[in-house]
Amino acid sequence: MEIKLVSGALGAEVSGIDLTKDTDAATYKVIRELLVQHEVLFFRDQDVSPAQQHALASSFGPLQSHPAYDTVENFPEITILESTAEKPSKIECWHGDMTFRAHPPLGTVLRSKIIPEKGGDTLWSSMTAAYDALSPAMQSFLSGLNAVHDFSYGFRESLAESGGRARLEKAVLDNPPVVHPVIRTHPESGKRVIFVNALFTTHIVGLPKDESKAILGFLFEHIQTAEFTCRFSWDVNCIAMWDNRSTQHKPINDYYPAHRCLERIVIDGDKPY
Ligand SMILES: [Fe+2]
Repeated sequence: MEIKLVSGALGAEVSGIDLTKDTDAATYKVIRELLVQHEVLFFRDQDVSPAQQHALASSFGPLQSHPAYDTVENFPEITILESTAEKPSKIECWHGDMTFRAHPPLGTVLRSKIIPEKGGDTLWSSMTAAYDALSPAMQSFLSGLNAVHDFSYGFRESLAESGGRARLEKAVLDNPPVVHPVIRTHPESGKRVIFVNALFTTHIVGLPKDESKAILGFLFEHIQTAEFTCRFSWDVNCIAMWDNRSTQHKPINDYYPAHRCLERIVIDGDKPY
């Protein structure tokens, strides 16, 4: 395996490995260590089957399914993220995946199936680097706070569509708002990370509305600092695997009306502390 670092803060491109063949426990163990260290890993030319993608993700632990997206036949944990001219992607902002869960995903394994001729890159930001760059006074202040994450808030556009409320009724009932610490401890590295995101975090518990809005606004801008980020240009058959506890990501929706399709698996995580 060869490792090429992608930016100063996070990201490593891993080559010299064939995920259609190198699927033993020892390889998966190395991948897990690399993931915790580099926070997001990229693999190119990996024409894996759904079963192989499933096996890679499962090596980290149990998987989660998403309440709102279509899935690959016979693989309920593999969600299809597709953007077309008729149905462009609605996810625009920086976020961690599914933080509306009491146990948000440990990580995500995303595989590319259809990639536009140009555009459609993805950005990641290191929440470790973002936390480390805060002053000790701000770190200490934020460390005592908790925030609410809400599925209905993140999916408000889909809910407002005609038929959206009925289609997502079960998802809304199954995913009531949850509370997570604003700063969490990574359970494997022990590092402190920022754990609020613009897609799902609605407010900070116990603060007046304007203070909550100002602090979240500051953090949502802070995590976009270029020095905390890396960028990946997709080809077909790439796999990006990120630590969803220590990163956020943003899709760059600059390829409309071209067709883009990726398949995603999220791995179950533990309760943030
Ligand atoms: Fe995402």
